[in-house]
Amino acid sequence: MPAKGATAITTHQPPASEVLVVGGGIIGLAVAWRARQRGHTVTLVERDELAGGASRVAAGMLAPVSEAEFGGEGRELLALGLDSRQRWPQFARELAAAGGLDPGLRCGGTLMVARDGDEAEALERELAFRQRLGFAVRRLRPSQARELEPGLAPHVRLALELPDDLSVDPRRVTAALRAALARAGVTVYEGCPVQRLLVRSGAVAGVALAAGRELRAQRVVVAAGAWSGAIAGLPAEATLPVRPVKGQILRLRDPAGPGLLERVLRFEGGYLVPRGDGRYVLGATMEERGFDATVTAGAVTELLRDASELVPGISELELAEASAGLRPGTPDNLPLIGAGALPGLVWATGHHRNGVLLAPLTADLVAATLSDAPAGRLEASCAPDRFGGASVSAAPAEAVVGATAGVSP
Ligand code: GLY
Repeated sequence: MPAKGATAITTHQPPASEVLVVGGGIIGLAVAWRARQRGHTVTLVERDELAGGASRVAAGMLAPVSEAEFGGEGRELLALGLDSRQRWPQFARELAAAGGLDPGLRCGGTLMVARDGDEAEALERELAFRQRLGFAVRRLRPSQARELEPGLAPHVRLALELPDDLSVDPRRVTAALRAALARAGVTVYEGCPVQRLLVRSGAVAGVALAAGRELRAQRVVVAAGAWSGAIAGLPAEATLPVRPVKGQILRLRDPAGPGLLERVLRFEGGYLVPRGDGRYVLGATMEERGFDATVTAGAVTELLRDASELVPGISELELAEASAGLRPGTPDNLPLIGAGALPGLVWATGHHRNGVLLAPLTADLVAATLSDAPAGRLEASCAPDRFGGASVSAAPAEAVVGATAGVSP
């Protein structure tokens, strides 16, 4: 049965959409919104409830500067992250107007902190790296860090202040996107697993739902998060390597209200994100456990131990929620955005740890792909054909290719 609020599956054949988005997480929702704004007729299909997967668990750091990593792929990801962060304020304003809900964008910046000598040495290297790249970053002695954030423990050894990072509340963002889609006339099917993509005459032509119906479309955008690699119906050479990377995360609440921490705090193995109203998100594990999304006592213990070592007041907070999400990982940790190996196929997936940050950029890049705009510099690092499948020879007319396992958008 479709979830509450979903469009009912009726017995008549709905008209083909220009664009069908598989997956109702933050990426699928943002893509559907932008595509509709560009004038396309849009349908979105979600197997469960909208934004009920990784988007619901995500902390919402928009932090390309503090998350910058050494190496070539790190540099590519940084370019994508900086570009998308720049788009966020406008995206948030437009979304607030279109969806009637404030997405909770915050500008407090990040503190990166070291607990001991080894971490302090590593932090000095991180400082030099960011200075070479020309980022705003300030080295803080422990006393200076505690002036900014009095909740920090006295034994913090060193801190960096990165004022340009932002954060957002992903649950508010997806609620606003959902409202914006409803207002814009996007057809949404919730609680409707996709069984397979339909391929007709060598081109993707829609989806077959597990419930037995087919939805036709000129283009299908696969935004199915960690399940994108398992989508059925494509020839093997057109599929892409996306795997689930589990993250466990806690939500904490200070009954006394805000004030324990103003800035996002990053430390070896974790982060603490204040929402500005007494709520905090503490994450996250990185685990390769397939599609297992159980919350474990060990992970909860470790997250709380590490964070309360740095911010002792954490121990007094209410534990409001413990959850686990599955990030869509790729072999090079870069996303997969753009045209796929078959006509009609578009990918918007593989965002790994950066789905929330990269949502505005992804939506714009997909909108450009849907308009057949020429690819630019940023598209090159996300091009799905870097893992093969640049073009697949046409299948026999009217053949449905591979109709096996179901997919979970
Ligand atoms: N973006 C942070 C995480 O995936 O844990």
